[in-house]
Amino acid sequence: MTKRIAIAGKGGTGKTTLAALLIRYLTEEKKGNTILAVDADANANLNEALGLEVNETIGTILEDTKDPKAVPTGMTKDIFIEYRLSRAMVEEDDFDLVVMGSPQGPGCYCYPNDLLKNYLEKLSKNYDYMVIDNEAGLEHLSRRLLPTVDLLLVTSDSTARGVRSAGRVREIVDNVKIAVSKMGLIIGRSQEGVSKQLEQEVKKTGLELFGEVPNDPMVADYDLKGEALLKLPDDSEAVKATKEIFKSLSL
Ligand SMILES: Nc1ncnc2c1ncn2[C@@H]1O[C@H](COP(=O)(O)OP(=O)(O)O)[C@@H](O)[C@H]1O
Ligand SMILES: [Mg+2]
Repeated sequence: MTKRIAIAGKGGTGKTTLAALLIRYLTEEKKGNTILAVDADANANLNEALGLEVNETIGTILEDTKDPKAVPTGMTKDIFIEYRLSRAMVEEDDFDLVVMGSPQGPGCYCYPNDLLKNYLEKLSKNYDYMVIDNEAGLEHLSRRLLPTVDLLLVTSDSTARGVRSAGRVREIVDNVKIAVSKMGLIIGRSQEGVSKQLEQEVKKTGLELFGEVPNDPMVADYDLKGEALLKLPDDSEAVKATKEIFKSLSL
C-alpha cells in the first residue's frame, strides 16, 4: 500500500523544506522503498530544494494540449496528454518527482480533472511513499485529485497567527471532507521554548503538535546558495529535529 504524506500550511512556513527533509529521511531510513515527490504548490519550488531541474509541469502540458492542433494526427487527446504526462516525470536514483504547476490563463484543471485523477492514482500505486508539497488552500486535495491522505503535516511559523492559520487548514480538511487518516502540526523555524508559549493556541486548533523544526542557519545558507537541501549534513539542526519527528510518526 502506498503511504501518502501531504504537507500543507501558509506560504513561508517551511513546507518545501519539510518535504525535502522528508524525502531525505525516506531515502536514507527506508532504503529500497520507492518514493514519489509531488509538488502541488502553484508556486512550485520543491525541485530546487531537491536539486532538480524541471522543464514540464502538468499545468503547462494541459495548457499546451488545449489547442486541438497540438495533438498529433492519429492520436486521441487523452492518449497524447497521458504520453506527455509520462514524460514530465523527473526520475532520480532514489525518488521521482512530478510538478503540478498552475493552469495558465483563466480556468482550471476542470476538463482533465478525471484524467489527472486517474493518472495520479495509477502513478501512486507504483510507489511505497508519496510526498505531496501543497499550498495552504489544499486545491489539489480538495478537488480530490488524490483519493486519500494517510498523514497530513500542517506547518506553521512560530507565531499565534501562524498557528491559527494552521487551524484553518484543519477546517478546510473537515469542510471538504478530504479523507485524512492522521494529521498534526509542525512548527517550523522555531526558537527554543516557543512551543510552550504557543501551547494554548495549539490546543485551540485541535491539532496534535508533532514537533518543532528549529531555526537552522544551515538551511538558510543552503537556500541562499541554491544548494539542494538533500545534501544537508547529518548534524544540521533541522535534519536532526525532523528525523526525530518522522521516527516518532513511524513512517
Ligand atoms: N528550519 C529552518 N531554519 C531556517 N530557515 C528555514 C527553515 N525552514 C525554512 N526556512 C527558510 O524559510 C523560507 C521558507 O521556507 P519554505 O520551506 O520554502 O516554506 P514554504 O514552502 O512553506 O513556502 C526559506 O527561505 C527557507 O530557507
Ligand atoms: Mg514551498
